[in-house]
Amino acid sequence: MTKIIKINPNNIDADALWEAAEILKGGGLCAFPTETVYGLGADATNADAVGKIFLAKGRPQDNPLIVHISRVDEVYPLVKTIPPKAPFLMERFWGGPLTLIMERSDVVAPEVSAGLGTVAIRLVSHPVANALIRMSGVPVAAPSANISGRPSPTAAAHVIQDLMGRVDCIIDGGNTFYGIESTVLDLTEEVPVILRPGAVTAEEIREVIGEVSFGAGEGAPKSPGMKYTHYSPDAEVYGVEYGTKPQINRDGKTGVLSYGEQNIDADIILHGGGNAEEYAACLFYNLREFDARGAKTIYAVLPPPGGMGDAVRNRLLKAAGGRIIQGEKL
Ligand code: TXA
Ligand code: MG
Repeated sequence: MTKIIKINPNNIDADALWEAAEILKGGGLCAFPTETVYGLGADATNADAVGKIFLAKGRPQDNPLIVHISRVDEVYPLVKTIPPKAPFLMERFWGGPLTLIMERSDVVAPEVSAGLGTVAIRLVSHPVANALIRMSGVPVAAPSANISGRPSPTAAAHVIQDLMGRVDCIIDGGNTFYGIESTVLDLTEEVPVILRPGAVTAEEIREVIGEVSFGAGEGAPKSPGMKYTHYSPDAEVYGVEYGTKPQINRDGKTGVLSYGEQNIDADIILHGGGNAEEYAACLFYNLREFDARGAKTIYAVLPPPGGMGDAVRNRLLKAAGGRIIQGEKL
């Protein structure tokens, strides 16, 4: 049975949150809101509990999980060493949507890292997530709280849709803030590598530590998660470059996710907003909404690269399996 616990992030009911913390401490599964997307948590030091995450999501065993903490000092037991650039990044971006990859200590269950010698760690700023982790007293391994391959959940209703009956508890703490996942940065390389662009941009990271590179992206061996189809609604997704007008196929119900000034005629038109931050905030919500309205095909206008545009493009191109429809320049 899945217990739903409603918690107002602006006025946290400590008794209600204790109930969820007890579930985590006892080796159970609890979904909770973070500032990026909802996560599905388990005690990262308990191999059995971590195993349940993979089962509940139908997640491939070789795709490692992020460990979430509530205070900076909780990072030390989880890693072998702190790389020299890490403190600057922690100071600037923690708590917040930046995940750092470092050498894993034996405190972290090896299942969390899918056998890799590294571990991904993120200090969360969302008041519900932060208080939950603090109360549970354990580091919390948590992937996004969706069935593997589906769009990440940005509201409790999405988690309920995917995981009802498969987890012990779901905390309903309202909508997440960024709507897109954290940036994953590998600090085990001389020049740090962005394995997944996210809510902290490459430009912001460069301001703090200088040079960073982008991972090979799709299929990069260092970020196992990136090789799977991801973020996909039931409808077929195609990317459309901003400022181009493609011929679209109007067989079946067609959806368009528009952006900025650009629109394309379709049966269902949802607006992605006027900048990449707005686009990100409602991206996964919009993808699920097209499914709910029976769209067969979705044409999504891609925001230009740079800043948060990188993260939105990454998710849309994953959802589209890399397919971009070419069109004449406007
Ligand atoms: O915002 C987020 O990051 C959300 C919230 C819940 O914190 N979590 C999230 O987790 O998006 P997940 O499991 O959906 O994505 C984690 C990504 C995957 O691409 C995975 O392959 C990568 O991080 N990752 C985790 N540990 C890694 C490691 N040790 N080395 C390389 N990549 C790793
Ligand atoms: Mg995910």
